[in-house]
Amino acid sequence: MQTYSIKPAKAIRGEITVPGDKSISHRSIMLGSIARGTTTVCGFLRGEDNMATLNAFRAMGVEIRDDGETLRIEGQGLHGLAEPADILDCGNSGTSMRLMTGLLAGQRFFSVLTGDQYLRNRPMKRVLEPLQRMGATIFGRAGGDKAPLAIVGRELAGISYSSPVSSAQVKSAILLAGLYADGDTEVSEPHLSRDHSERMLRYFGADIETFPSGVRLRGGRQLEGRGITVPGDISSAAFFIVAALIVPGSELLIKGVGVNPTRTGIIDILTAMGAAITMVNSREISGEPVADLLVRSSKLNGIEIGGDLVPRAIDEFPVICVAASCASGRTVIRDARELRVKETDRIAAMAVNLGKIGVNVVETEDGMELEGVERFAGGTVESFGDHRIAMSLLIAGLAARNEITVNDVECIATSFPNFTSLLEKVASP
Ligand code: S3P
Repeated sequence: MQTYSIKPAKAIRGEITVPGDKSISHRSIMLGSIARGTTTVCGFLRGEDNMATLNAFRAMGVEIRDDGETLRIEGQGLHGLAEPADILDCGNSGTSMRLMTGLLAGQRFFSVLTGDQYLRNRPMKRVLEPLQRMGATIFGRAGGDKAPLAIVGRELAGISYSSPVSSAQVKSAILLAGLYADGDTEVSEPHLSRDHSERMLRYFGADIETFPSGVRLRGGRQLEGRGITVPGDISSAAFFIVAALIVPGSELLIKGVGVNPTRTGIIDILTAMGAAITMVNSREISGEPVADLLVRSSKLNGIEIGGDLVPRAIDEFPVICVAASCASGRTVIRDARELRVKETDRIAAMAVNLGKIGVNVVETEDGMELEGVERFAGGTVESFGDHRIAMSLLIAGLAARNEITVNDVECIATSFPNFTSLLEKVASP
């Protein structure tokens, strides 16, 4: 088990770029592989999660070359994937497993998906249930709720599905199956989740329409290979945004960050707490909005967070809890039950860890309530094998009285392999 100890910082200063967006990187491989012609991808995130997706498509006969800068994917067309000779391993990646389940349900072959001990414990019925309504034949452990999943590809029919959860993975799995289905597929959700699939499908020429209440896709249309530039991941930028906010005397410029409105809940939440974050140089690249973010240390105030802000900041709650712990007053997080079924139970994990470093936290069923402190105490905390818990606690260490040691930090490599070296570059001891 690897551990990492972080010392309090004097300031966070400089100019950085963060690695490519994880969600967009997954989708670039998937759509590039089933499109006709070549897709090139610049800025692809070479973290373990995305490499799991890349290796799965190679195992289904797709030629993907990587010169270290650009990926070249030789698309096989909608029906050109080959039956994999072995089980496809999604590692820790829920996006790989859930999206591929949708895509594989409509193939003319058999496939099996598995993952690590954490992924094999995450709920899969949320995708199996709608896919089965489309005619899919999929089996899994625990009555079809847990991986490994065995998929007997077959013909599918479009459905109109009203999802009980706001989940981009559920929505995307259904849309990818919808590409293979007879007729139209429609999905709606309580609050709009990230819409990278909708944007990229449109960019690749799919017959797709979005409405305020959902999305409709017509099956059977071939996609065309495209050039994609992946923006920096706002979920990775979030750690550095919070670092610069909570360490006095900081000023940080983060260049080329994806600022899709379905992902900028973190900026809205922090701004409502009093954060000085300026978006400059706004532009659009490959159908996605991008900007540079200038962050200055700020005095934060506690707030209440819930409703449609939750899916727009779903991956950022661990680091939002760190920011809230440095704010004056009370922060209440509600409507965030989904955090309990992420890489780990992120409500329980943050409550226990923040408690260990001196924060007064009360866990609730769908969130937590916490009271800001002057500075974190030092101590030893646990990642629970979750990359975002590990990185959030290292950020807390920058604003602690004493060193914080985080146990089990290997998981950081799933989404942000150069996290600690980038942190060392901008943090002055
Ligand atoms: C993702 C969707 C979200 C998010 C995950 C990536 C995606 O999951 O938490 O990190 O790429 O579609 P849910 O769809 O389960 O909310």
